[in-house]
Amino acid sequence: MPQYISRLPAPEDAAPFPRRLVLLGATGSIGTSALKVVAAHPERFEVLALAGGRNAALLAEQAKEFRPACLAVLDAATARQLKERLPDGYEPEILVGPEAYVALAALPEADLVLSAIVGAAGLAPTYAAVKAGKTVALANKESLVLAGHLIREACAETGAVILPVDSEHNALFQALSGENPRHVRRLILTASGGPFRGKDREYLKTVSLAQALNHPNWSMGAKITIDSSTLMNKGLEVIEACHLYGVAVSDVATVVHPQSIIHSLVEFADGSLLAHLGPPDMMIAIAYCLAYPERVALPLAPLDLAAIGRLTFEEPDLAAFPCLRLAREAYGAGRSHPTVLNAANEVAVELFLKERIPFLRIPEIIEDALAAHDGCAADSLEDILALDADSRRRARAAAGATAAGN
Ligand SMILES: NC(=O)c1ccc[n+]([C@@H]2O[C@H](COP(=O)([O-])OP(=O)(O)OC[C@H]3O[C@@H](n4cnc5c(N)ncnc54)[C@H](OP(=O)(O)O)[C@@H]3O)[C@@H](O)[C@H]2O)c1
Repeated sequence: MPQYISRLPAPEDAAPFPRRLVLLGATGSIGTSALKVVAAHPERFEVLALAGGRNAALLAEQAKEFRPACLAVLDAATARQLKERLPDGYEPEILVGPEAYVALAALPEADLVLSAIVGAAGLAPTYAAVKAGKTVALANKESLVLAGHLIREACAETGAVILPVDSEHNALFQALSGENPRHVRRLILTASGGPFRGKDREYLKTVSLAQALNHPNWSMGAKITIDSSTLMNKGLEVIEACHLYGVAVSDVATVVHPQSIIHSLVEFADGSLLAHLGPPDMMIAIAYCLAYPERVALPLAPLDLAAIGRLTFEEPDLAAFPCLRLAREAYGAGRSHPTVLNAANEVAVELFLKERIPFLRIPEIIEDALAAHDGCAADSLEDILALDADSRRRARAAAGATAAGN
C-alpha cells in the first residue's frame, strides 16, 4: 500500500496544549460536536475562530461561551444579526464571505483547523489550510473527492498534516497506526445501510423526505443524512479512502453493518482483520484528531457489547442504491469525474431536500451528468472550482426539466 496522504507528526512534534483551534462549520453537526469536546477539556484547547454559514443565533451562542477573537459568516445580513446578538463589551472581528473561511483556514496563530463546512464549499478553505502547512482535522470529505491529488501534492510541499474525522477513515487511521503499509491487503469501510436498508426500488419510488432524514444510528447534517440514505456517502468515502491512504479503488471494500459499532476494518496479508469499535458518536473521531496523538476522556457511556448482542454484516444492494457504484466508476474514469459526480449529487440532494424531485431521481441526475462528461483538466484548484460550478449549472438545468415547481 502506498503512502498516507500527509506526513504524521512524531509525538514530540505535536503542538503543545493548549492547542489553538480554528473551527470551520462550527454551527453544523460536526462543529457542535467539536465544541462539546472543547468544553470537556478547556485546559487543552483555545478557540481562536469560529466560522458558521447563516445560523447567526447559534454562532452567537457559541461565541458567547468560547469567546474567540474572530468569527466568520457567509453574508452581510448574517453578520449584522450576529453582531446584534453578541453581549456588550465583547467585540470579535467578524469576517464575511467565502474569502473569510480561506483567511481563517490559514490564520498564522492556529495550531489546528477543523474543516467541517458541508459540500464543495469546504474545498477552498481546506486547500488554504494545507497550503499554509496546518494540521487539518478533515471532516469535509468533499475536499478529497474533488481535489485529493492536489491536497496530497500540497501536503508534500508544505508539510501539512491531515487527520481524518470521518468515522470510517478515522477507524482505518487508528487500525493502521504502527502497522507496515506493505502488509495491508484491503481497507473495508462499513456502512449502516441507512433508513432504507433492505428496501427495493419499488419501495424507494415513493419514500418521503422525512423517511430519508430518519437515520437509524447517526445524528448528522441534512446533506450527509440524505447521502447516507442513497449510499452516496459510502461512495464518497471510497474515493476519500483512495486519496487518504493512496490505494486503488479495487482495494477499498464496503460492507453493510447495520449496528454501526464497527466503524471500519483493515485486512492484512496474513488474513488478520483489525477493526475499530465504538459508540456511534462523532465526538470520538473528532477528539482523536484534536488531541492527536493523545486520547482524552469524553462524556459518553461505554459501549455495552453484551447489550448489543449481535454484530451483523451484509453486501450493499447496488441495484437499489446505484450511487455507490457511480462513485466507484467516477473515481476510475478520471480526475475530473468525481467533481462532476459530487456537483450533480449536491444539486440533486438540494432538490430532494426541497421536495422538488423524488428519491430515485437522485441517482438518475448523477448518472446523466457523468454520462455527459468527457473528462477535462483538473490540475489546479481553479480548474476544479470552474468544473464544479459548470457541473452544477448543467445538473440544475437537466434536473429542472423534471423537478416539480422548479
Ligand atoms: N455529521 C457527521 O456526523 C459527519 C460525519 C462524517 C463526515 N461529515 C462531513 O462533515 C462535513 C459537515 O457535515 P455536517 O453534518 O456537520 O453538516 P451540517 O450539520 O449541515 O453543517 C454544515 C456547516 O457548514 C456551514 N455551511 C453550509 N454551507 C456553507 C457555505 N456555503 N459556506 C460556509 N459554510 C457553510 C453551516 O453553517 P450554517 O448552518 O450556519 O448555515 C454549518 O456550520 C460534511 O462534509 C460531511 O460530509 C459529517
